[in-house]
Amino acid sequence: MCGIVGYIGPREAIEYLITGLRRLEYRGYDSSGVALLTSERHLTIRKSAGRIDRLEAILGGIPAASVGIGHTRWATHGAPSDINAHPHLGGDGEVAVVHNGVIENFQSLKRRLESDGYKFCSATDTEVIAHLVASCLKLQPPVEDMAAVQYRPLVAVVQAALSQLQGTYGLTVIFRDWPEVLIVARLGSPIVLGVGDGENFIASDASPLAGYTDKIVYLADHEMAVLTADSMRVYHRDAGHVDLQIHTLELKAGDMDMGSYDHYMLKEIFEQPESIENAMRGRLDFDAATAKFGGLNLTPQQLRSMRRIVMTACGTSWHAGMVGEYVFESLARMPVEVEYASELRYKNPPLDDHTLIFALTQSGETADTLAALREMKRKGHPVLGICNVVGSTIAQESDGGVYLRAGPEIGVASTKAFSSQCTVLAMLALYFGRLRHLSFSAGARIIHQLQELPDKVRQALQCSDKVKEVAAKYAHCNNFLYLGRQFNFPTALEGALKLKEISYIHAEGYPAAEMKHGPIALVDKHTPSVFLMPHGQTYDKVMSNVEEIKARGGPVIAIVCEGDREVGRLADDMIEIPAVEEFLQPIITVIPLQLLAYYIAVARGCDIDKPRNLAKSVTVE
Ligand code: G6P
Repeated sequence: MCGIVGYIGPREAIEYLITGLRRLEYRGYDSSGVALLTSERHLTIRKSAGRIDRLEAILGGIPAASVGIGHTRWATHGAPSDINAHPHLGGDGEVAVVHNGVIENFQSLKRRLESDGYKFCSATDTEVIAHLVASCLKLQPPVEDMAAVQYRPLVAVVQAALSQLQGTYGLTVIFRDWPEVLIVARLGSPIVLGVGDGENFIASDASPLAGYTDKIVYLADHEMAVLTADSMRVYHRDAGHVDLQIHTLELKAGDMDMGSYDHYMLKEIFEQPESIENAMRGRLDFDAATAKFGGLNLTPQQLRSMRRIVMTACGTSWHAGMVGEYVFESLARMPVEVEYASELRYKNPPLDDHTLIFALTQSGETADTLAALREMKRKGHPVLGICNVVGSTIAQESDGGVYLRAGPEIGVASTKAFSSQCTVLAMLALYFGRLRHLSFSAGARIIHQLQELPDKVRQALQCSDKVKEVAAKYAHCNNFLYLGRQFNFPTALEGALKLKEISYIHAEGYPAAEMKHGPIALVDKHTPSVFLMPHGQTYDKVMSNVEEIKARGGPVIAIVCEGDREVGRLADDMIEIPAVEEFLQPIITVIPLQLLAYYIAVARGCDIDKPRNLAKSVTVE
């Protein structure tokens, strides 16, 4: 939640700040702002409720500045408004702060600061940090030449303020009286630093840095960094000065272009044949009829000794985990539980020593997933991270893992990450299966089916025009049911979530047969039911459920295998997809559901890539 950027160097800071904020807008987009510092010690702030276009519109006439910070917000404390937008000023304007995270004890700190005479303008928790830094600055004896002492007194000031906070932060502070320095700190919310030539950059993730520098440093929890135009020093709260670990950024600025698509979401839906191919590249071992992974960091013997898997995740990644449950149980014959990370972190499940945890996440930054991972590690369970974003916190904190290699996913509604997660889980299930009972020939057959997957996805995408027609017919409806069984039950949940997220239509995903026990009461001629019914062991049973809906006058949209003539006599609309093995069906059946949500949202004039109230990366509890 929230994106922060910072710049110090010879160029016009505002150019990087605005580019960076646009690339971080997926993290929150209810308001944004910048603070710029000129060498004449003048602090200019511009901020506005609404999208970054609104901020850009009020930038006219600002002085040239080569130091600045910026923020794009997803409101936690205080409504989205001009006043609550960041940056926030502290004291009499000596400092400005941008912050991502939540300060839990802000009310008590605020009361104390108010009684000390500090005036608050906003309802945010962040303003407390700004005033706290200003109050600690007051206690700092004057220092003649800060540069000569490497700004250590300022580090001490910020550290003194941070030590009073309870909660999480990724933040940057600029000082009116020391325009040649930026201080950045992290506890729980990500910060990436970009090392340039005579300039340095700050961002919440690496995406803003693409095209500016390929040298990046991930700040760790309890670390602070002091940036000038030509220096970067990192300090750990307990360990003092730490050496810079410079990584190479592979991301290119062009990777984030929308190309000829109208929305990122549509682009990402159509990228799925390639993203799935990338997930599999080099990971299928034909000779041994299994899958192989470079970074599991556990020996086959250790993995073989695992008796149970717990998958934990949020949102769409949780649905991928549910697909994983069916796939692991069927291919690897291992018991799997899927837990919402927000539940697992406070639960105390009786897990034995042979329990392996999978943390599934596109961003690698979801606060609840990270907290669940830490809790499971604390209890001694090995954790494998299945992440898309390279270098993300969850990728770093997992004991081992598998990257999705899906490329940047910018649309807030997750699409290609889901199919890549399902693909990686299928490969992992194959690998775990081959460590156990699965025969060579069964492994070879599964590899063959996996290899065909990108082409099957390509064929499935050909349903796009048909889905568009169906979307136009039903876009006015206010309730939808999504029904599927077995492997397609999680896909039903995912289809309903997509529709809710981007078109604000109420939708429920249900196991098709369970629908009789309640949701059927919702059925009327205005409530379409989307049935996922490719050929498989429950096909006939689902057909009976279709009959039950039709008998009650409900419209039926059926997702069926190509050439299926049986459903036609009942369904109002049919969308055809290619046939694949049951364990791979979710990767195919989800395609028409993603497109249906997309086209309905377009028909309703919704903001596809930035749906209301949501953010792509939820870094608060
Ligand atoms: C947010 C996003 C969802 C996403 C979920 C989990 O709610 O809006 O699209 O599925 O977070 O995110 P993760 O990055 O952990 O997969």
